[in-house]
Amino acid sequence: MPEGQEPNHFLRITLIWFVVSVIGVALVVFVAGPGLPPGNGSVEASGQVTDNIVLMALSVPVAAAVLVYLTYAIVVFRERNPDSDVVLDGPAIRGNSSIQLWWLVTTTVLVLFLAGYGSIRLLADGSGGGQGPNPIATPASAKTTPPLQVQVIAQQWAFTYRWPAYGGVETPHLELPANTLVEFHVTSLDVIHSFWAYQLAVKADANPGQDNIAYVTTKGPLEFNIRCAELCGVWHGYMFDAGRVVSKADFASWIKGQEVQFAPATKSLPPYSRTYNPQPLRRGG
Ligand code: CUA
Repeated sequence: MPEGQEPNHFLRITLIWFVVSVIGVALVVFVAGPGLPPGNGSVEASGQVTDNIVLMALSVPVAAAVLVYLTYAIVVFRERNPDSDVVLDGPAIRGNSSIQLWWLVTTTVLVLFLAGYGSIRLLADGSGGGQGPNPIATPASAKTTPPLQVQVIAQQWAFTYRWPAYGGVETPHLELPANTLVEFHVTSLDVIHSFWAYQLAVKADANPGQDNIAYVTTKGPLEFNIRCAELCGVWHGYMFDAGRVVSKADFASWIKGQEVQFAPATKSLPPYSRTYNPQPLRRGG
């Protein structure tokens, strides 16, 4: 290359960036993607895995642009003459209208796409998050088949589950039928908690006096972890349980057994309600 003639750095950087991005996106989609949390334990969980792959894949070209440029600059633009006492600066990009335009176009398109994608995904299947007492993101299948309602009652330091469709029985553990749309009604009797069923991709605040609705569509049989995800006192760390998704037949016999086993307790429970005031219970009412 003749003296004083610069190679086309922009073209070089763009080509390196493109190759790195293609490899990076392929690694995200095909290698890292299938193992991303929270796994494929429910329809909502699979949706979250897909969203995590999309977000990660979109961030790869952005990160690659930064890292490729930095590496290229360090390797190519460094001062090679150890005796040089003149620090030469390149031309400033300030006021470069082409760079400004592309910066604005790229960031605007990315942000608007993510906002649109996020909104559509949130409305599609209820997303597994608590939506308060009046959900706006109701899963489409709820219109044809009424969901199975399960009330999640948090208190220091355990979760219990109440079943309005099964005589209002309250169970100490959670089993769910496979391939079923479940409507959790999450509430608390005392302080703030959070109902987190990791493999189902459900996380919903459990607040006293609040009915917080979260949807999940179960898949096949599965064991899942339940944890409280809100600091709620000294035994917060021990507020956990294991739940199971079982076949519809196994669920039917399990809930029947629970109804029989807890029938005496059910009689002394307050009537089923979306929230409870624990005061009368504490006074022995
Ligand atoms: Cu309940 Cu933390």
